[in-house]
Order: sequence, then C-alpha cells, then structure tokens
Amino acid sequence: MQSHTFRALSRRLLRLHPADSPPEIRARVVEVLTETPDARTFVLRPNRHWTGHRAGQHTTVEVEIDGVRHRRCYSISSAPSDRHLAITVKRVAGGRVSPWLHAHVRPGHVLRLGPAAGDFGLEPAEVAAPLLLLGGGSGVTPLMSILRDLVDRGAVRDVVFVIHARRRDDVIFGRELEAIAARHAGLRLLVELGDLDEVRLARQVPDFAARTTLLCGPGGMMERVERMWTGAGAAARLRREHFAAPPVPTPAPGAPVAVRLTGAARTVIADGAGTLLEQLERAGERPPSGCRIGICQTCKCRKQSGVVENLRTGAISSDPDEDIQLCISRARSELRLAL
Ligand SMILES: Cc1cc2nc3c(=O)[nH]c(=O)nc-3n(C[C@H](O)[C@H](O)[C@H](O)COP(=O)(O)OP(=O)(O)OC[C@H]3O[C@@H](n4cnc5c(N)ncnc54)[C@H](O)[C@@H]3O)c2cc1C
Ligand code: FES
Repeated sequence: MQSHTFRALSRRLLRLHPADSPPEIRARVVEVLTETPDARTFVLRPNRHWTGHRAGQHTTVEVEIDGVRHRRCYSISSAPSDRHLAITVKRVAGGRVSPWLHAHVRPGHVLRLGPAAGDFGLEPAEVAAPLLLLGGGSGVTPLMSILRDLVDRGAVRDVVFVIHARRRDDVIFGRELEAIAARHAGLRLLVELGDLDEVRLARQVPDFAARTTLLCGPGGMMERVERMWTGAGAAARLRREHFAAPPVPTPAPGAPVAVRLTGAARTVIADGAGTLLEQLERAGERPPSGCRIGICQTCKCRKQSGVVENLRTGAISSDPDEDIQLCISRARSELRLAL
C-alpha cells in the first residue's frame, strides 16, 4: 500500500518536473577586466547546465533592471577550451543593459544566461584555409574567440586580422592581439583607426576575395564590406554577424491593427511603425525578446490568424497557426497571437 502511494507520488513529481523544461544556466562573475575606456570583459564560471560553445557563438544575458527583465545577446569572447567563459561588453551610451552591466556587475555577481547559439564561425574544413577576420568596435568579440581557438589548436596558418576602431585606446584586445601576432608568423594584424576604406583594404589584403572572411562590426562598415565582396564576386566567402538590425522601413500607411493576444485574453492596437515586437511594446506589452534581430528565437510565438510580413525576406504570409518571430515581423492585418 505504502509503496503504491510512493509510486503514485513519484509519478506526480515527475509530471511536475518534465524532462524537457529547460535547465537554468547561471554563471558567477569571477573577474571583470577593463579592455578600453568603454569595454569590459566579464569572466564567468557557469553552472553545470552550460554545455559549451563553438568559437563565434553568442549567449543571451538576462538581467532585471528596476523590476523589468531585459535580455541581450553577447558574443562569447573566450575560446571553447578556456577554463572560464567570457563576454566583452561595450557600453552603449543611452542603452539600457550595457551601461547597467558596467555599473553593477562585479566579481561574485550571478548572471542568468541562455545556451550558446548562432552559426557564425568556421566550418571544420575552413580552419586550414586562408582567413580574413574583419572586425570593428565590439564586433571584434566573436573574432577573438575564433582566433583564440585557432591558437589553441595550433592552427594559425594564414590569418589576416583587420580591426577598426575610432582611436588606438578603443581597440578591444589590442595588446593580446599584438602578443599573438608576435608569437605567430601566420597572423598578420592590421589595426585601422577610422572608417573602413575599400581602396586601402584592397591594397593591404590584395587576395581578400580568395579568403574565407568573417565580418562583424557596425552597420555601415558591414554594408561597405558586403558591397565590396559582392563586387569582387566573393559574396559566398563572406560570413557576417550582425549586432544590430538594419533600420526597419516604415510600413504602409493606415497600418494600425488590432492584435488579439489570446493567452492574455486582451486586444491591443499595434500602431504602424516598426516591428511587431516594437508595436506590442509600445502598446504596453512585454513579450519575451532577446537579440531583437531575428537570431535568438526568444520572441518566437504562434500566430493563429492574420497576415504578417517577414521583414528579412519580404515574404507575406497569411497561413494560420504558424510560428513567427515578433522582432522581424510586421503586422499587415488584424492578428491573433498565442501570447
Ligand atoms: C548576436 C549578437 C551578439 C552581440 N555581441 C555583442 C558583444 O560581444 N559585445 C557588445 O558590446 N555587444 C554585443 N551585441 C549587442 C548587444 O546585444 C546590445 O545590443 C548592446 O549591448 C546594447 O544594448 P543596450 O541595452 O545597452 O542598448 P539598448 O537599450 O538596446 O539600445 C539603446 C540604443 O543604442 C543602439 N544600439 C544598440 N546596440 C548598439 C551597438 N552595438 N552599437 C551602437 N548602438 C547600439 C540602439 O539602436 C538604441 O538606439 C550583440 C548583439 C547580437 C545580436
Ligand atoms: S528577439 Fe531574438 S529572434 Fe526575435
């Protein structure tokens, strides 16, 4: 009788803790390093739920500021084999999360993380290929992880690392990069102060179009590089990681739409400008979000009916019961969302 009750209780407990509920990844800050006047590296010791990363991937950091939860993506700057995990955050003036991280996070602080995500990085077959790592500002972080990984694997064979910054003081990882370049004949380091200049880049790296290129930097720099690579017929060899979304075009006039949030049983009016995520936030809703540019999937939700435009692909879809990402969608009719 007793063992029967115990088995029933166990079954109920198992139902209460389903195996598919995601384990919470938390990481203790073990060190905070000042990289430049406005960039800091947070060295983290994650709990056992962290299952590692590939060089080039990012994580999501969730913080609560004045009672409101915010999530932001940060590329992992450490190598996969490093003892600790590291993210390097540049303070964005007027931003919500990055200035807060700089002001409040000290050794001992515990941060909530998302699992490593993203497909930016090198395929195994590309490790031995001639490489160009092209970064600007905080965009150097995933490239640093990739370079550190190549160093660890003894695979720095033919790598050009071009880094753009406004001033020499702003070059994140400048000293470490110089030290690696001094030890590895296979690494050529070019530190460029100021904007990217296509003519200069083509002079400095004449075989750029033949190199597998990993690019991460401010929007303007990325656009120029994309045009240059496309013009040289080398777009297929260019990999990009975007930290910020390109500006969203203004939607068609007369766009305000009623959005029924079926989970919350209320209807809000999404006004025309911006993405569906921004529209809902303006209407006072707080749907989950992370990267806000279509990468992390945090904002994915079920659209039960209505028409949305995918701002990435331009596709307009009226399918019922499809999953959409709020941050890259725009309402094109009244909607029903399972939120
Ligand atoms: C995949 C991915 C990886 C990323 N990796 C890193 C990283 O390694 N290091 C890092 O510092 N940041 C990284 N970011 C950017 C980071 O997620 C935040 O966007 C950034 O820290 C600003 O957040 P915030 O809350 O301070 O500013 P918000 O409150 O979100 O924004 C305030 C204002 O700043 C603008 N803004 C947002 N991001 C930037 C930016 N990067 N540069 C200039 N202006 C900006 C916004 O458009 C807005 O006007 C990454 C983003 C993505 C999507
Ligand atoms: S918030 Fe990351 S995919 Fe939309």
